[in-house]
Amino acid sequence: MRAIDLRSDTVTQPSVEMRAAMAAAEVGDDVLERDPTLALLEERVAELLGMEAALWVPSGCMGNLIGLMLHLRRGDRFLAPAQAHVLGSELGTGAWLAGGMPEALAWEGGPGRPTPVQVSRAAGSPGPYYTLRTTLLCLENTHNFAGGTVTPQPEHRALVATAKTAKLAVHLDGARLWHAAAALDVPLSALTEGVDTVQVCLSKGLGAPMGSLLSGSKPAMAEARRLRKMLGGGVRQGGVMGAAGLVALDYLPRLAEDHAKTRRLAEGLRGFGIAAPMPETNILLVPVPQAAVAVAALESVGVRTLPVGSAIRFIPHRDLAMVDIEAALRRIEPLAHLFQEA
Ligand SMILES: Cc1ncc(COP(=O)(O)O)c(C=O)c1O
Repeated sequence: MRAIDLRSDTVTQPSVEMRAAMAAAEVGDDVLERDPTLALLEERVAELLGMEAALWVPSGCMGNLIGLMLHLRRGDRFLAPAQAHVLGSELGTGAWLAGGMPEALAWEGGPGRPTPVQVSRAAGSPGPYYTLRTTLLCLENTHNFAGGTVTPQPEHRALVATAKTAKLAVHLDGARLWHAAAALDVPLSALTEGVDTVQVCLSKGLGAPMGSLLSGSKPAMAEARRLRKMLGGGVRQGGVMGAAGLVALDYLPRLAEDHAKTRRLAEGLRGFGIAAPMPETNILLVPVPQAAVAVAALESVGVRTLPVGSAIRFIPHRDLAMVDIEAALRRIEPLAHLFQEA
């Protein structure tokens, strides 16, 4: 029985076309000078994001870390929505490498979203020299651990405006910003308005084996390039990965198909009496009494998932077709009782 892998949108295999583009990539030494294919990818992504410049980095974690390092001085506080990736899933690097003091904002604006009032309250106002300084707001769109939830453009705008009034810089963890833009049917640049830096991932849903881009102003990206080198992320013939990234961008118009697969999965589960929320993008978090037990039972019938707190996470992606979602539902149906409270 072929396993249906719904653990993450990072489990995709590079396509034949992507591998061919990687093999044929024009490359140079990106540490000594510039790799032409990485340069092209950076230019194209900066343009999509409506930013001045971009820098390829090996991973989303490194992109976020460099973003935080650009904005924080040691001991500065930064704000982020509760359960943001930068708070709980990057091994504390925002604190121990970027020197920031994290402050989680509860989801008073909806799942994964703080309100502008919370931002303004948490930012505080300048006090005497011994006052703790808050200098950065870090947003996440879509919010992974809230279940791929989207921050719509007006809310994004209001959060950024409040941050600016409070003299905070804004970094956006846009690992899945593509998904937010697809769900809202707006250009990516509508969701980066006013941010100082944004990080987007090519390895989540788009099929690239690795690679993210940090984007911001030209001077910020020049400094980011130094920081990337400092962290061991300076690559030589990175164009091999850059070519994969350029092919990955071709999947952007098809992300809505993954959202449709995720909705179908939720509807099917609801049909079995399971309390699945309706997903906004490609992430479905289904509450379950015993996550580890349910994950193991699903694995035994060839449906691979991950536990996230007291829920199970399902992420359909480009390597799964609608027929695979239907097959997964048939496998899950006999296990529906695992999702019910005892
Ligand atoms: C919201 C978010 N930000 C950042 C990352 C980190 O990306 P990477 O695994 O490429 O370091 C992830 C990874 O899943 C993520 O979901």
